[in-house]
Amino acid sequence: MNIKYYCLLVCTMIILLPACQSTTTDKQQAGTQASPIDSTLSDLEYLTKADTIALAAQKRLIQALSKAIDEGGIPYAIDFCHTNALVIKDSLSGIYGAEVARISAHYRNPVDKPNAAELEILQAWQQLPEGETLEMKIHYATQTVTVYKPILIGMPTCLKCHGGAEDMDVDTRVAIQQKYPEDLATGYRLGELRGAWKISFKR
Ligand code: HEC
Repeated sequence: MNIKYYCLLVCTMIILLPACQSTTTDKQQAGTQASPIDSTLSDLEYLTKADTIALAAQKRLIQALSKAIDEGGIPYAIDFCHTNALVIKDSLSGIYGAEVARISAHYRNPVDKPNAAELEILQAWQQLPEGETLEMKIHYATQTVTVYKPILIGMPTCLKCHGGAEDMDVDTRVAIQQKYPEDLATGYRLGELRGAWKISFKR
């Protein structure tokens, strides 16, 4: 499979990730940062808005990743993933008035390390019996509302950069090790929970 096709598959996968449609509200404290938004919304409105934002982020990643692949191939795309993730978060914050981030218990970028409350959300999803739908979560803090949307290892191509030794090329491993010496985001298997989108609104 050529690299561009492979990456397009990855991106398509991200878009199609079957994150949850149902709602769960939990009044724990989590999600500490947000940009201003004029809102006193219902749970459903927050969930819908967050879902739209997560999809927009994914779409931007696809466009940018496709361009990066054209220019330099997978090792370049790995490097690019780093800066691009930051650019996407910033630009979407401006457009939607919400803060966009990702978290993972086994993070590659330390910026994506979850706080204690977020780790509990990820672990609760993790412990659900196989086949259970992972529900989006809303957490209310004093000044923010944060929505978490699960991200799954939904197709084999994810494993090219997040799988075990048998899944990843040596070049890819080297590139990841150089960029992320403390990487925790390998050893995944198909269908496993990879992390979550974290969309924060100011109340
Ligand atoms: C070309 C290699 C590559 C592929 C393929 C890939 N990723 Fe990643 N992924 C990365 C890199 C590099 C990062 C770190 C980005 C950063 O620095 O913010 C990352 C970060 C993430 C994060 C953020 C949490 C963390 O660990 O820092 C999630 C979630 C994620 N990837 C999910 C996926 C999923 C799901 C797939 C398959 C649809 C996938 N990735 C495919 C390279 C890849």
